[in-house]
Amino acid sequence: MNSPRVFSGMRPTGRLHLGNYLGALQNWVVLQERYECIYCVVDVHALTTVQSKEDAGQVQGNIREMVLDWLAAGIDPKRSILFVQSHVPEVLTLHALLSMVTPLGWLMRVPTFKEKVRQVTKASANQSEEALAMGDEHVSYGLLGYPVLQTADIILYKAQYVPVGQDQVPHLELAREITRRFNRTFGETFPEPQARLTEAPLILGLDGKDKMSKSLNNHVDLAATPEETAARIRTAFTDPLRLRRSDPGRPQVCNVYSLHKLFSTDSEVKTVYAECTTAKRGCVECKGHLAQNINAALAQFRQRRAEYAANPAYVDEMLAVGARRAHAIAKATMAEVREKMGLTPAPA
Ligand code: TRP
Ligand code: SF4
Repeated sequence: MNSPRVFSGMRPTGRLHLGNYLGALQNWVVLQERYECIYCVVDVHALTTVQSKEDAGQVQGNIREMVLDWLAAGIDPKRSILFVQSHVPEVLTLHALLSMVTPLGWLMRVPTFKEKVRQVTKASANQSEEALAMGDEHVSYGLLGYPVLQTADIILYKAQYVPVGQDQVPHLELAREITRRFNRTFGETFPEPQARLTEAPLILGLDGKDKMSKSLNNHVDLAATPEETAARIRTAFTDPLRLRRSDPGRPQVCNVYSLHKLFSTDSEVKTVYAECTTAKRGCVECKGHLAQNINAALAQFRQRRAEYAANPAYVDEMLAVGARRAHAIAKATMAEVREKMGLTPAPA
């Protein structure tokens, strides 16, 4: 019996950070043990926010940087299919066909769409998203269709499980609705994909903001050197009420402590707690200790990354193999879809 299929994707935004690693990548690696996994660099999705030739010129390099992080983390191209979305263009055909069974209202209600509209139009709160969307040339058809393309990604490969973070739940709900609608209209064709929520530890930003993210520039790059990492950790916010070295600290509100819980042993964490609350350790020392543990945890990752980075031909070949394997599945699905939708078979 075939094992259930998993599909997930990431937009190529360049190098990944600690939050991506603990939140998504480690989970992707584990899923390879039990499922047939397909991991996709969604370069077409990246274009929804590309508005210039300069932006477009970055996509290629970003794909490579991200794939290096995937490989270094332990995504295994022998077991899993790793490929670039646009290398299997059937997804664009399926996107167009799914758009025929997707009511406009469903798309206009997606929270990420509404947020994006507010962002790009930089608008005040008193106008509806619909009105804003209609009046702004930066709100593209592609932006609205983003979740339809995401649905096409998943069901083109008939994936059952989709490991994603909480922020993607509305997209997965929509994917299920589109899939149901297709199946009802044209006959049972696709399994309904299910979100598999990543049990991600909450990774705060170094500035204490509720999310580590590159756009907030409060992140730790996975590919940074040990020295860069230590320097970065030194900038982290700690207990804001601990003004003097002799003040006892409150680890429970300290970001550095929350990272210790992820990277230090239980007994070290206990020591940090005890020494912080009694002012036995200073924050500078505490951060140095944390940086050391993060660097130890990433040592193998960094070594593997450097090896892959030194061999660009390997990465290209690996992506070519991934695209071929993905394409074989996509072709079979599309033949079925064409038939169900009454399109004549494409001449060979
Ligand atoms: N929208 C997802 C994100 O921003 C990326 C994505 C595209 C995706 N297609 C997908 C995730 C298919 C899971 C499955 O994170
Ligand atoms: Fe945070 Fe460590 Fe400073 Fe305590 S000693 S406030 S845990 S950085």
